[in-house]
Amino acid sequence: MTDPVLVVAGAVLAGHRMLVAQRDYPEEVAGLWELPGGKVETGESPAEALVRELCEELDVVVSVGAALHDAVRPKPGLTLIAMRAEIVSGTPRALEHRAVRWVDSAELAALVEAGRMVPNDLGWAQEMVAELRTK
Ligand code: C5P
Repeated sequence: MTDPVLVVAGAVLAGHRMLVAQRDYPEEVAGLWELPGGKVETGESPAEALVRELCEELDVVVSVGAALHDAVRPKPGLTLIAMRAEIVSGTPRALEHRAVRWVDSAELAALVEAGRMVPNDLGWAQEMVAELRTK
């Protein structure tokens, strides 16, 4: 059996906006938007993995806050969690994605409505639509 995989994604927040990143691969999700992140490696905490991944993918240093409400289990052996984060230094740029953009509550809701978020991230997107509306 293969080892269980844990993926951590970042709800990167600045004021009333959140960062979303447009996937470049694989084909099924290319062009769709996600909360950026990646696999937690052996010996790392989820927060450490998120700091590393967002540095690799976006060229920023983040501080990591509380987890979002729901974990996602798209298939056996794969769990995704998301954590709030704030940029400590750097300006995000798409090193591994097609593009990055900041969205407010209405813009994030529009991405969800248009089917332009990756399916795994829909629950988190809904949670953040509600949270960003309060900011
Ligand atoms: O980004 P990466 O390819 O390393 O992600 C690992 C796995 O987690 C992939 O299956 C990807 O589709 C999934 N993922 C996701 N939502 C995210 C980040 C990753 O479904 N926000």
